[in-house]
Amino acid sequence: MQQINPANIGELGLAWSYDTGQYRGHETTPLVVDGVMYLTSTWSIVHALDARTGKILWVNDPGTPRELGRMACCDVVNRGAALWGDSVYVGTVDGRLVRIDRTNGETVWNVDTRVNNIHYTITGAPRIIKGKVIIGNGGAELGARGYVSAYDAETGDLEWRFWTVPGDPSLPLEHSALETALPTWTGEWWKVGGGGTVWDALAYDPELNLLYVGTGNGAPWSRALRSPDGGDNLFLSSILALNPDNGDLVWYYQTTPGDNWDYTATQHIMLADLVIDGTPRKVLMQAPKNGFFYVLDRATGEFISAENYALATWASHVDPVTGRPVEIESGVYDSSGGVPIFPSALGGHNWHPMAFNPNLNHVYIPKLDMAGIYTVERDYNPETGINNSGNRLSPDEFGAAMAMRAEPKAYLLAWDPIKQQPAWEIEHATWPNGGTLATASNLVFQGTGDGHLKVFAAEDGKILHEVSVEIGIMAPPITFTLDGEQYISVVAGSGGAGVRQPEVLRHKQNTGRVFTFKLGANKPIPAVADKAIPDITPPQNFGTPMQVESGKQLYHRYCSRCHGGSATSNGIIRDLRHATPTIHENWNNIVLGGMFEALGMASFDDVIDEDQAQAIRSYVVKTANSTSEAEVQTAH
Ligand code: HEC
Repeated sequence: MQQINPANIGELGLAWSYDTGQYRGHETTPLVVDGVMYLTSTWSIVHALDARTGKILWVNDPGTPRELGRMACCDVVNRGAALWGDSVYVGTVDGRLVRIDRTNGETVWNVDTRVNNIHYTITGAPRIIKGKVIIGNGGAELGARGYVSAYDAETGDLEWRFWTVPGDPSLPLEHSALETALPTWTGEWWKVGGGGTVWDALAYDPELNLLYVGTGNGAPWSRALRSPDGGDNLFLSSILALNPDNGDLVWYYQTTPGDNWDYTATQHIMLADLVIDGTPRKVLMQAPKNGFFYVLDRATGEFISAENYALATWASHVDPVTGRPVEIESGVYDSSGGVPIFPSALGGHNWHPMAFNPNLNHVYIPKLDMAGIYTVERDYNPETGINNSGNRLSPDEFGAAMAMRAEPKAYLLAWDPIKQQPAWEIEHATWPNGGTLATASNLVFQGTGDGHLKVFAAEDGKILHEVSVEIGIMAPPITFTLDGEQYISVVAGSGGAGVRQPEVLRHKQNTGRVFTFKLGANKPIPAVADKAIPDITPPQNFGTPMQVESGKQLYHRYCSRCHGGSATSNGIIRDLRHATPTIHENWNNIVLGGMFEALGMASFDDVIDEDQAQAIRSYVVKTANSTSEAEVQTAH
């Protein structure tokens, strides 16, 4: 679409906005069909809007029990719905696949995609191929064994299921591809699940009739814990080509053999036709977490090339003959402490969609150069319902390792997949940032974590236009045409894996809000209200030093994932140092009794008791009293 172009981009203005009524991570790619926009928000809620005006047509809340938010590794996000005929399909955080009538928003059916009630979550969008709804799931950190399933779009009946990693070897294999995988595992991986979850990437080539599936990391992360006598651990961190009619494996390519760093290959898969060394090739491109950009032949799986798009200290390069990464000393870690290694578990690039400009042959990558702190957890003891990645350090060891780590840097990178080198890159002020959109008029759109929608020249990255929306953007912008007019939409709302509100937005409410722009529109960008921060003095310190210390350990085991390390909020979920007297009075009711379950605060009574809940409180109070008021205010 070329109506919006570099010459008139300054006339881009707001046509309408819509509040989802939710907060936390909004990662959705909206769909627009027949003048209706379908998008998803946190808790897998589907919203149908008039795409011209933003007027709400219907909302379908599939009713995920909010306390199950505890089972989502990386926030209760959703990346989008799928459309087929008159139905919308969405996967839910509690692992269901839901069919909704797109004319009235009513639920037609929903099926539970989980096996043995394990805490699988669905955050990715389904993909529909010839009447089959394909869906995977997440949950590797919480004991999942990965698979991808196909359901009949009409009836919801299960058609096939492809397990990505072998299960208990004393039981029969579910399908023949696992005969290839089984000998690449050692030890007792199946007890923790193994991982390999299919939580995002699904792509389809109708001509070749191949479904491409990206698989996730190993669980636990460390291969010393997962598969102690070595092995590649197929099909972790792999790209699989499946026959969508029956789920049979056609070919596979493993990006990170024996994954040791949470380097998923679930990052979305891009299909393109490129001329490489004078020959037209049907390729598949991916920038998985591991820092290398891959170009494969998508008909055969043949490795074409891979080069570093982001800092990587775990491997020097990918061997051009074998297609295997060459691991190096700086990627090695053990149980003696935390080792910083690039990329981190957030990846050189994560789920944030990339975009491709076929005129310039550039792929626009939201890139992150950030070291993760890796360790082999001592006394690894997986528990139900918490993160069991096997990468835990004591809070003090972790703090020390983090203090040594350089500040992460985020970029918009234009990558040339033929030359396998950067065309240009620009550095962003904060991290992480949103997915990208490339248009035929050589524009690149990207939202940033500090709340701007930015427009760049595709050739050289020159910034052409910028709008401040005061809400962090993680999702990718989209474009569509209605009545001959081109629109740009983007969904704002920060949250998700590892996300913290940048300082500039800390005092702002983090609402989920959709913005739709077109040329000549001029609605003002709605202001975002400040957070109402209760003006309180923390209670007196209490508890023995031993209790406070035990509270600190427990806090970092069970609470820091949402409420932030060192009892300091990441700016999205509440800062416990600022709890009101009423919250303190109700502490055990909230933490053990499920009093705030409807808000997404689960009960932890299955893992901690009353004394432990109070020990955590004593640590939070101690921290509140040792932090200045100004620091608490900005961290809230
Ligand atoms: C999966 C995310 C998650 C985890 C883990 C979690 N919480 Fe929460 N907690 C929430 C959410 C969501 C709320 C609702 C308030 C909000 O929206 O910020 C909340 C609210 C609270 C509140 C009320 C705060 C206030 O001022 O209203 C307390 C107290 C609390 N949590 C304590 C804990 C403790 C203690 C732990 C660890 C045992 C814990 N939480 C673990 C998500 C979480």
